[in-house]
Amino acid sequence: MCGIIGYAGERAPGDLLLDGLKKLEYRGYDSAGVAVFNRDKIKVCRCEGKIACLEKILDNETFDGEAGIGHTRWATHGRPSEANAHPHLFQSIAVVHNGIIENYIELRDMLKDEHNTFSSETDSEVLSHLFVRFIKKGLSFEEAVCRGLEMVRGSYAIAVLYEKEPAKIIAARKESPLIIGLGEGENFVASDVPAILGYTRNMIFLNDGEIAVLDKNRVEIKTLAGSPVQRPPIHITWDPIMAEKSGYKHFMLKEIFEQPRAIIDTLRGRISEETGSVFLDGIDLSTEYMKKIERIYFIACGTSYYAGLVGKFMLEHLGRIPVEVDLASEFRYRDPLVNEKTLLVLISQSGETADTLAAMREGRDKGARTVCICNVVESTLARDCDHVLYTHAGPEIGVASTKAFTSQLASIFLIALSVGRKRGVIQDDRAKYLIQKLVELPRLMEQALQLEPAIREIAEQYADARDFLFLGRGINYPIALEGALKLKEISYIHAEGYPAGEMKHGPIALIDEEMPVLTLVPNDSVYEKILSNIEEVKARKGKVIAIATKGDIGIEKRADHTIFIPEVDSILSPFVMVIPLQLFAYHVAVFKGTDVDQPRNLAKSVTVE
Ligand code: AGP
Repeated sequence: MCGIIGYAGERAPGDLLLDGLKKLEYRGYDSAGVAVFNRDKIKVCRCEGKIACLEKILDNETFDGEAGIGHTRWATHGRPSEANAHPHLFQSIAVVHNGIIENYIELRDMLKDEHNTFSSETDSEVLSHLFVRFIKKGLSFEEAVCRGLEMVRGSYAIAVLYEKEPAKIIAARKESPLIIGLGEGENFVASDVPAILGYTRNMIFLNDGEIAVLDKNRVEIKTLAGSPVQRPPIHITWDPIMAEKSGYKHFMLKEIFEQPRAIIDTLRGRISEETGSVFLDGIDLSTEYMKKIERIYFIACGTSYYAGLVGKFMLEHLGRIPVEVDLASEFRYRDPLVNEKTLLVLISQSGETADTLAAMREGRDKGARTVCICNVVESTLARDCDHVLYTHAGPEIGVASTKAFTSQLASIFLIALSVGRKRGVIQDDRAKYLIQKLVELPRLMEQALQLEPAIREIAEQYADARDFLFLGRGINYPIALEGALKLKEISYIHAEGYPAGEMKHGPIALIDEEMPVLTLVPNDSVYEKILSNIEEVKARKGKVIAIATKGDIGIEKRADHTIFIPEVDSILSPFVMVIPLQLFAYHVAVFKGTDVDQPRNLAKSVTVE
């Protein structure tokens, strides 16, 4: 999705903006641009395609101003092109915008009637025209932005430059994240933390309906109506090095290998092996409330939704409470059965997914309490939910989610344990046993990561496949879905995840010698059933890649390829099972030469509906 960076200070603005834009690349984009002052005039440089192209253009430019704004655009209204790229400069005003202006056609028609001509197909361009309109009516820069925004319906995060006040940036937010970074003799604007983390850790997160007026020496936050807002900055502890590749070829590979560490960080301080207790900082739900609730919903999108599907198994098993799992984009429109006896658990790595935010609001309006499991500190979801459990996976840059997923699973497991304890389902001994198993997990995940060379070899043999089927059962059925999603996201191979027992009801028609079937065969209660499903595939000449448990001597005779993962308690098996699937998708994509970290058409956080 689109990204914003803004800078007021004495460093070379072109270089700084470019650096910030590179840090935003992971969000996904198709064009980029900057606006910087040169000899008191705003100069805009933009191009379609990658930031490397913008870099070449900027090599031949000189800037001497103290303020600039930059943007990476992910096309919604209007195709990817230089004309549609931001910043949009109209006369004296340049604007970058994330979000969607819902009434842009209406505004555009009004402005056309006032003899404005537009140079792009975007909804965003109306903003620069609106602000100029109010400046021409005699309003100050700040008043013009506020009055202009009052006419807008929809969502926005914006940063604006005005030619007559070259040291100043005005930023504003409604339903799209925007952060102000505070430095010494310099200040920053960004749509997300990694863009400016190399320069400052002190950040103020704007709220909806707020604007920030900043230059290199000061930051003022106000409401659109002009009332001053005082909010202390938040100190972000993420280390910028964590957001670099640290020698790995891709962020995705680095993040796959970071999973054992991410799980340790997610569990840190939240469990006691001695007493079997769980401490959920950020979630303050009483035993009385936990006994009273009748149903829990997990609501999320994409990979986070699959974490919810695994969570259903965990929570129903450990908490003995009915759990429903819903896609946020469906939940929000289907008048769900939710009331004050329902607990909504929203799962989102970014905390900015538009559908998940809308589902949270829908549920809250119907009286439900809301908990979110989120990786990004102070994201909109984290701030708007009643309770938040942070995953502590560290910044996830690769568009394909990996470590955020397993950290979500760890957080869900903690919630399940806590619910089970509070509802009196899990006694001390069982809790201690489960916590001990949880503590062993990072070591087992390390062992699974050592399987990389073997997985790479298999990936090479299947990199030319056209389709793939992923089969799993029980708690690992969602892992089959996740494996298929990973493969299609980054290698563009068509892949489907299926509950293995359901294969004979349709997908079996697809099986022939051209159809590789990756099958999850943990040593659990459905082991025998999965073996029968493998036989069904083999009988139709399908190729079987099995992910099985170490010591399973029978499986090698049945499958064409076998990867052995370490033995793990079945309720925790998804943590280990998913690792070979992530590595498989990664290596297939590398063999195919696709863009692993920024796959085509995808965005890291989907902030539009
Ligand atoms: C996962 O690899 C995806 N890129 C995507 O499905 C993602 O999980 C989904 O968009 C939800 O994002 P969130 O966790 O930030 O809400």
